Amino acid sequence: MDADKKDNIIGYVDFDSGMSSTGDIPIKVPFGSLTLVHTGQYVKISQASNGISFLARISKGPFFETEAVSKDSAFARVAILQASNPKIMAPDYHGTCVAKVMGSLNENLQVGGTHLRPRPQSAVRSLTSDEIEKILGLGGGDIYLGIGRAYEDVRITLPSNSMAGLPRNVGIFGTIGSGKTNTSQVLIEEASTKNWTVVVLDVEGEYVDMDKPSVQKLPFEKFDMEPAGMKNFQVYHPSNAEPSRADSVKFGVPFGSIPPYIYSEILELTEAQQRRFEEAYSDLLRNSARQKQRKQKKPNEFDTIVDGSTETVAGITLEDMIDRVHGRLQQAAGVDASSWSTLHSKLRRLRREDIFDQGKMINFEEDILKHNTAHVIDFSTTVDDQINNLVIFHLLEGIFKRKRKDKAGKLPKVLVVIEEAHSFVSREKAARMRETLLKLKEISRRGRKRWMGMCFVSQFPAHLPAEIYDLCNTIIAHQIRGGKHLDAIKDSTGGVDPQVWDEVPNLGEGECLLVSSIFKNRPLFCKIRPCSSKRRFVEGQGVDDEMEDAKEGSK
Ligand SMILES: Nc1ncnc2c1ncn2[C@@H]1O[C@H](COP(=O)(O)OP(=O)(O)OP(=O)(O)O)[C@@H](O)[C@H]1O
Ligand SMILES: [Mg+2]
Repeated sequence: MDADKKDNIIGYVDFDSGMSSTGDIPIKVPFGSLTLVHTGQYVKISQASNGISFLARISKGPFFETEAVSKDSAFARVAILQASNPKIMAPDYHGTCVAKVMGSLNENLQVGGTHLRPRPQSAVRSLTSDEIEKILGLGGGDIYLGIGRAYEDVRITLPSNSMAGLPRNVGIFGTIGSGKTNTSQVLIEEASTKNWTVVVLDVEGEYVDMDKPSVQKLPFEKFDMEPAGMKNFQVYHPSNAEPSRADSVKFGVPFGSIPPYIYSEILELTEAQQRRFEEAYSDLLRNSARQKQRKQKKPNEFDTIVDGSTETVAGITLEDMIDRVHGRLQQAAGVDASSWSTLHSKLRRLRREDIFDQGKMINFEEDILKHNTAHVIDFSTTVDDQINNLVIFHLLEGIFKRKRKDKAGKLPKVLVVIEEAHSFVSREKAARMRETLLKLKEISRRGRKRWMGMCFVSQFPAHLPAEIYDLCNTIIAHQIRGGKHLDAIKDSTGGVDPQVWDEVPNLGEGECLLVSSIFKNRPLFCKIRPCSSKRRFVEGQGVDDEMEDAKEGSK
């Protein structure tokens, strides 16, 4: 027994009973080692006869079995029924558990494939934190996420400069209060100091105070952290929204930066109205081209403008468009007049949204695409989903276009965090916001090579279009209480031992199951570190005072 302890032996492989499942290895655990065994633990199984070792993970147990007497014997029954009586002894017992083989393990702790199963009597050893770190490749990254749940001295990190990580998109999922926003703040804090630019689409206005230190009482010391505000941080609000702080930058969307087919979708144009829209738009494009050619000496200048390297494509504004449509309406008659007239009133309705060609326009290079910066777009006071989608389309397209053109790689890597992603892009809204969704999918798919990644945060993953989380190569699953939301994530994370999902409903605050292609999709249970920056809307905070300050400041 003492020798076993010295060798970290926690048990031995048992005989199978009947046709066991191929990957499941039954293990017997002596009484003295019971405290050393837990579900989720990584173990090394060594077969003395031929020196082969296996990496395995305890997937079930420990369960407890009586030794000399049967569990149905009077002795065992009385021992349980009168357990509080100090005179009654319990019969001797031991543990059993089941481990899942994950591969072969060589002397250098490298994991390989295997078709073998360890034989009975093979020794099962617990792994030290150093061994775990080496086998799973956990250390060495510069993005500090947290520590192992069962291995608290193992730091869990992601590399900021690996294409298999953030550029391949992250999904943060979990039920209410499970720790999603904390985790996303951690990612924002880390990425925006590791040469990335982070853009946060914030529906609730929770992220707008991240330049201040956290006021929450969280276990910072345990994670070697302390509360601290972020530097290089800016909040923006669309021109149809209220600012949530005095220095929030108001921005508008240039009408000409959105392609005509998106307006057709948003304005729900009939085929006839859509044709009219395109006619009027082409008229304006032609006029604008003529003007440009008159102004510009260089013949190629117009190409670069319509190509969209400046935001106001050909300088078309909503006012121009309304005037043009009004002009055509005056000349039209009959059915023609009716479609021009409806289009005219739909465009005027769009003008009332106060979002097009208003105030400052985002200058993507100057405002956003700077190394080591974070930008929160505060949608907390907006009400119209479709207008929000236009704004998001404009931002995503503006950033992605520049990243595509940046062949020399001068621009920073970009992470776009979409909080409450289901409220922006849901399955039920998918038909109405096809184009925004297509843009998201395009960036999710093609962004990787250009170092642009997305992070989707949602408590309702099942409501997200499946394509969204299919494209997430790193999944951080906080507590999810079974049902369709857990199934949706399971389905999208193939290759993971299905039994690990049984533990997800029981995770505590901030605990998560991390599955990432960075770790070869081996499941890892982690405790995410507390974020060091402040969150708005946490208990006991004077939110109203801050809102008042913001209103005062913006007057
Ligand atoms: N990693 C963590 N370590 C310690 N405590 C945490 C951690 N993550 C979250 N918590 C605690 O849990 C609370 C809820 O976390 P958080 O707001 O991030 O959850 P959420 O999933 O975003 O919730 P909601 O669904 O309401 O948006 C936090 O206020 C904090 O007290
Ligand atoms: Mg949250």
